[in-house]
Amino acid sequence: MRIEIPREVERLGAVRFYGLQKVLELDSGLKGDVTPEPGTGIQQLPYEALYETGKQMAIVIPVRNERLRLIEGVLAGIPHQCLTIMVSNSPREPIDRFSMEKEALENFFQFVNKKALIVHQKDPGLAESFRKVNYTSMLNDKGQVRDGKAEGMVIGTLLASMAGKKYVGFVDGDNYFPGAVEEYVREYATGFNISQSSYAMVRVAWHSKPKIVASKLLFRKWGRTSANTNNLLNQLISHYTGFETEIIKTGNAGEHALTIDLALQLDYSTGYSVEPYHIINLLEKYGGIGKSHLQELKGQSIEVYQIESRNPHLHETGDKDHIKEMSYIAMQAIYHSPICPDELKKDIFNKMVRQKLLSNDRKPPKPHIIKPLCTIDLANLRDYLNSTLFARSQKMGFPTLSECLLN
Ligand code: GDD
Ligand code: MG
Repeated sequence: MRIEIPREVERLGAVRFYGLQKVLELDSGLKGDVTPEPGTGIQQLPYEALYETGKQMAIVIPVRNERLRLIEGVLAGIPHQCLTIMVSNSPREPIDRFSMEKEALENFFQFVNKKALIVHQKDPGLAESFRKVNYTSMLNDKGQVRDGKAEGMVIGTLLASMAGKKYVGFVDGDNYFPGAVEEYVREYATGFNISQSSYAMVRVAWHSKPKIVASKLLFRKWGRTSANTNNLLNQLISHYTGFETEIIKTGNAGEHALTIDLALQLDYSTGYSVEPYHIINLLEKYGGIGKSHLQELKGQSIEVYQIESRNPHLHETGDKDHIKEMSYIAMQAIYHSPICPDELKKDIFNKMVRQKLLSNDRKPPKPHIIKPLCTIDLANLRDYLNSTLFARSQKMGFPTLSECLLN
């Protein structure tokens, strides 16, 4: 991949937010083909380097009730060298959607001769294992694993870490373009290759999102939700640096990846608030603002890369209420952060009232926060998972998770 070197950076404590990087070439050739051009502001990552990083990466697909044809396309877009993990929260009755997903996955991986993992979020073995290690922030009041995309992502991260992977990336299961999925994974690998730290995050900003407007295809750049979330996160950063900034372009980036070292340290905010909350939680813990967690980083910084993809992003369109809800929960996550200044709180509150998301006399609800995976005993959890969830699978062979197809 040939890509711009980021020109801007915002530094807060140990966190570095890098400015948006544009991709010049999706594939810049092999090692020998790459001629360094100092001073051009362009960086080249040879194919071999990205391939090697891919071998250490798990790609998690969170799925709830998506069309199988779309999921199959997403599977086809994930490079062969990556481990694929599907975490499903699809209904099991009246029609067992999960069985259908499992079957599709098994067929696909038989053809491509590769192993993958699939797990259901509501598998009682998962909930039981979480309970045993006191990981109750993942459970609802019925003792089941909670619904939500973030919750699925935590499970995926856990499996990636148990499979011995160094990186975990996320792609939605409703993407129409397998080529876009492949590009996102390349961009994750690119960010990790550029990074100097074991605590890195790569967030993809879509080049465009095609929409039909007045019978014509319009390649829109920013949705209203993204523009709003980015703006509020930038205001939060500006408050602490004293300089206005537009650095954050990926406040809602569903397509993102983390080093496992970083993924294990972060708190996760429920459902669709997970992506903006990553930025907030980084600032809370490592931004030199709140209670410092800097000792966890062993002297390293946290590097956040934002890469603009080339493929248009086309996925299943949610209805207006779904989009409103997503924007609302992002605002709630910022509002309730202990580092959110009063003026910004007031702005957010007024916005919620203006958009009729909240009445004047109410306080915004607080999103549920899931504790970091590093706070639980992962060795114990692995044992419990072995005797519950994974024991049911004949093909299961811990610790080489990548050797097996689950369930
Ligand atoms: N495992 C699991 N559990 N997966 C879920 C759940 C759940 O409870 N809920 C949704 N998913 C899956 C969906 O099936 C899809 O593959 C992915 O998570 C994203 O959910 P969508 O419902 O398609 O979200 P969206 O398209 O409105 O929003 C996406 O883009 C936003 C940025 O514009 C998401 O990735 C958001 O998180 C992101 O902020
Ligand atoms: Mg979607």
